[in-house]
Amino acid sequence: MEYEDAGRGRPLVLLHGFPLTQAMWQPQIAALQGGYRVIAPSLRGFGGTDAFTGTPSMDQMADDVAALLDQLSIREPITLGGLSMGGYVVLAFARRHAARLRALILADTRSGPDSAEGKANRDRVIAFMHDHSAADLLEDMLPKLVNAETRTHRPAVVAEIRRIAASQSPAAIIAALQALRDRPDSTPLLSQISVPTLVLIGSDDTLTPPAAADELAAGITGARRVTIPDAGHLSNLEQPEHFNQEIRAFLEALPG
Ligand code: MLT
Repeated sequence: MEYEDAGRGRPLVLLHGFPLTQAMWQPQIAALQGGYRVIAPSLRGFGGTDAFTGTPSMDQMADDVAALLDQLSIREPITLGGLSMGGYVVLAFARRHAARLRALILADTRSGPDSAEGKANRDRVIAFMHDHSAADLLEDMLPKLVNAETRTHRPAVVAEIRRIAASQSPAAIIAALQALRDRPDSTPLLSQISVPTLVLIGSDDTLTPPAAADELAAGITGARRVTIPDAGHLSNLEQPEHFNQEIRAFLEALPG
């Protein structure tokens, strides 16, 4: 696995969205490494991380994260955060490795599975990737990844998203799309989550809309739900200061 490992303190592990890499967490790593050990891996096939060998799944990605913790000799419970696809992996990790958790951060994500229409769309994108590049896919996705304000007034953010996505391999993207399409419904798990949880959602997120955040927060006992104003799906990149401030406040309030 390729991963960033910065700072000292309680471990905070951050899992990226699709079709990006750990590089999307730079604003969070920069802001939080002063007080925390921030670890951000690239998930299977993305960045410099090895591709899937077996059937692509969120479970495999979650097990990869557990293996990375073993490799780094991290035995204490971690705060695990994920945005979108990273959030699906967080939920898979909570199902498979609950004892390793201290707290959860679920950003711009959902617990439900793909609808029939969603699955059909994954198949269309998989077909598209057979003769297009990651850069082509990104142009297609951009209006759903960031809001109109970011597209017109935050060119550096858009350029960074393009830069990260452009170097991802079509094979990795196809494998991730299969894992996204076939992921299970994590909604039944929510009531079993017993660690403090922060649910973050960009006000203008259309990919995983605020209603999906409502469902997460309603399902997890005691979850704190916060809207990041003037942000779309990639809220951590569109409004980094606000996003970081919410994470910092959440981490500082954790017991112990
Ligand atoms: C993501 O941002 O990780 C993906 O767009 C999530 C999804 O397509 O379900």
